[in-house]
Amino acid sequence: MAEVPTYENVKIERDGATTFVILNRPEKRNAMSPALHVDMCNALDWVSEDDETKVVVVTGAGGHFCAGQDLKLFFRANENDPKAQRKTGDDSQAWRWNKLSRCPKPTIAMVHGYCFGGGFTPVIACDFAIAADDATFGLSEVNWGIIPGGLVAWCVTQIMNYRDALYYCCTGERFSGKEAAAMKFVNKSVPVAELKNAVLELARNLERKNPLTVRYTKEAVRSVRGMDQAQAYDYLDAKILALKQVDPDKGGDKAMKQFLDEKSFKPGLGEYAR
Ligand code: ACO
Repeated sequence: MAEVPTYENVKIERDGATTFVILNRPEKRNAMSPALHVDMCNALDWVSEDDETKVVVVTGAGGHFCAGQDLKLFFRANENDPKAQRKTGDDSQAWRWNKLSRCPKPTIAMVHGYCFGGGFTPVIACDFAIAADDATFGLSEVNWGIIPGGLVAWCVTQIMNYRDALYYCCTGERFSGKEAAAMKFVNKSVPVAELKNAVLELARNLERKNPLTVRYTKEAVRSVRGMDQAQAYDYLDAKILALKQVDPDKGGDKAMKQFLDEKSFKPGLGEYAR
């Protein structure tokens, strides 16, 4: 198995074909410094290309997900340096939204402990999110006298009901992992002791699927949200043909043969054509 890279602010750990990308500033509750943003950009570039990784989990070290942007290093240290502000803003955006939401592999946010402010963006950018029941979420920007910028306000409206988005952005009130699951901000919540197992259970399911089919499916579901019906129909038609062309396993043909001719598998029961 190929060695994993090392970074100052990010840890990489493998569990089978699932790779954990871990924000690693536990003494600062994984608040995101400019250097952490650079490390996360590099880590996500690496994991996206790593042949042994089929599923990516994003989480935080020390029992917490992320306390948001590092107020001291992200904001104050760059106050009088517009160039540094721009570079850090771009890096921060690049991994939290662009790279994560376009990751060619399925991504799971594993949320425990605190998740504040700018920490919402990567949770939303991941394809799936599982939280500990007692995780604490907070859009605390309003308490700092700022608005949920850096795309946070846009991200939350992608996933939260409009009333919930306005409520939590304007009040800064916290909500638990259990509440996050009830409002479908995360797929589900579990007791913290079961969190890693719940994440791995989902990851193992995804690991067993044809990786290209999973990739094309997630791209399709994401992309059609911004299209009208006619555009979606054309786009999905083209996407189906593209998958047929690029899939070296010819998964669709194989499945059809196994189901119709050989009667050797039942896809409706969650099996997968091999
Ligand atoms: N930026 C910079 N440093 C931070 C941040 C942050 N967002 N969050 C925590 N830290 C630092 C603390 O200053 C402290 O550093 P120190 O040990 O050098 O004093 C260390 O992390 C531990 O924090 P504590 O407050 O001592 O830990 P505690 O567990 O009691 O509380 C909590 C954690 C609730 C996360 C608290 O630190 C907090 O409220 N942080 C701010 C969270 C927030 O509102 N984030 C959104 C920022 S706005 C945005 O992201 C755009």
